Amino acid sequence: MLDIGCGTGALLREVVAEENRVTAVGVDLSLGMLARARSAGVSLIGGDAESLPFREATFDTVITSSSFHFWRHPQQGLAEIRRVLRGDGQLVITDWCDDFVACRVCNAYLRWRDASHQRIFSKSECLDLLERSGFNVLRIDGYKISWLWGLMTAVAEITRGDQSGNGKRDDQHGDREIENDSRIGAQSV
Ligand SMILES: C[S@@+](CC[C@H](N)C(=O)[O-])C[C@H]1O[C@@H](n2cnc3c(N)ncnc32)[C@H](O)[C@@H]1O
Repeated sequence: MLDIGCGTGALLREVVAEENRVTAVGVDLSLGMLARARSAGVSLIGGDAESLPFREATFDTVITSSSFHFWRHPQQGLAEIRRVLRGDGQLVITDWCDDFVACRVCNAYLRWRDASHQRIFSKSECLDLLERSGFNVLRIDGYKISWLWGLMTAVAEITRGDQSGNGKRDDQHGDREIENDSRIGAQSV
């Protein structure tokens, strides 16, 4: 599995502790973060989500947690994930969610104050972005992790019948009303 924007390797440590047969790899833009992740005992590589230093169809699972809102060109990052993911693999994205008021306020502030912060997405925007990038979204849930703060997690696979890498929407979903999509989990906002 690949963890993009692995930071200090907290998730990688958990994965390896849970299942030591997994070959886990972390990639991050920040060499400082990777230095702190070293004790996770997994392969760590400096690199950008938007230009991943791996061959096509390398990983069964790609995870990215609290990193997506830093990516300058999220669609390019998703195209790269699609390229390095095996045909039957899964992508899991966890990030801040624009459907929560606290995230929205923080997003507006950080876009003004922090050059590294790009933007956050609502669940429906994330769903749309994933589908435009050639993913079939299995589910996307928004949830609170404290009384204030909310996240979303999307689980997706490469759209069947479109393994070519061109990331076009499939016809089944092109005209769908995304707000009424049953894959979008309920949440308290
Ligand atoms: C808030 S930290 C999250 C770290 C870790 N995933 C976690 O959940 O604890 C965000 C990480 O994403 C990395 N990052 C930001 N933009 C990136 C990009 N384009 N490619 C790879 N890593 C990136 C940052 O360097 C940082 O380590």
